[in-house]
Amino acid sequence: MFDIPIYHKSNIAMDLIPDLQSEVFAEYDRRKFYLDANPEMGKHYRKLSVYNEHGQHSIVTGNDPMINISSFPKLQKIIHEHTITYLNSLSDFPFTEMLKDNWKSYAWWTCFDGGDSYSWHNHSQFFLIATYYVENEDEHSPIAFRNPMGNLLESWLPGKMTGIDTEVIVKPKTGDLMIWPAWLEHFVYNKTLWDLERNNDPDSKYHRGGNFNKSVAGVDTINTPYDTIRKSITINYMKPAELFGYMVKYLEGKK
Ligand SMILES: [Fe+2]
Repeated sequence: MFDIPIYHKSNIAMDLIPDLQSEVFAEYDRRKFYLDANPEMGKHYRKLSVYNEHGQHSIVTGNDPMINISSFPKLQKIIHEHTITYLNSLSDFPFTEMLKDNWKSYAWWTCFDGGDSYSWHNHSQFFLIATYYVENEDEHSPIAFRNPMGNLLESWLPGKMTGIDTEVIVKPKTGDLMIWPAWLEHFVYNKTLWDLERNNDPDSKYHRGGNFNKSVAGVDTINTPYDTIRKSITINYMKPAELFGYMVKYLEGKK
C-alpha cells in the first residue's frame, strides 16, 4: 500500500555503453596519481567526479563534473526523455514541453571499488534523481532505498517491528536507468557489507542504519576489490528556477 513511485527500465542506450565505460574509467584512472599522494582525500577525488584534488565540490568551483565524457550528451538526451515520461506518469503538469528545453540538471559520475560504500543520504537539494548504471555486473553490490514511513511506524510499535519493509534492495544491471524523488534516502553497499547482508549474518555484527558503514569490527571492508570498477552516472534534475531553484541561479551566476 502507498508505494513510492520508482522508475526502473533496463537496456537503455546500450550502444553508448562501451564509450561510457572507457571514458569514465579513463577519468578515474587519470586521477590515480592523487590517490598515491593523498590516500584520504584522493579516494573521494577518484570515486565521485564532483570533487577536485583539493576536495572542493564542483558546485563551489564551477568545474564540470562530466568533463572528458564525450558520450555523455547523447546519454543525457535519452535520460531526459525518460525523466519527462516518469513525471508525466505521476502528474498532470501541463507544461512538460517546456521542460524538454528548460529543465536544468546537474550530473556526475561515480566509480566504486569493492571497498567503497555510500551511507544513507538523499539529494533533497534537487527535485528528481536519474541514475544510469554504466557498469553494474553480478559481482557489484546493490543499492538500498529506505522506507520513509519506516521510522514513524517503528516508533509507534511497542516491540521490534516485523512484517514491514524498512528498506528495499535493488540490484541494477549495466544499462539500467532508475529515477526517483530526490528526497528518498538510499545507501550503496560495499562488497563486504553486501556479503554480510546477503548471508543474513545471524550474529548481527553490524547494524544497518545511521553511519554504520564507516567500519565493521573485525572485517576488512577496504581490501575487497572487484574485478571491474562499478560505474554509474547520476543526473540530478533541479527544482523550478522561478520558485525554489537557487542552485540554477547560483550556477548561472558563475558562468
Ligand atoms: Fe546518492
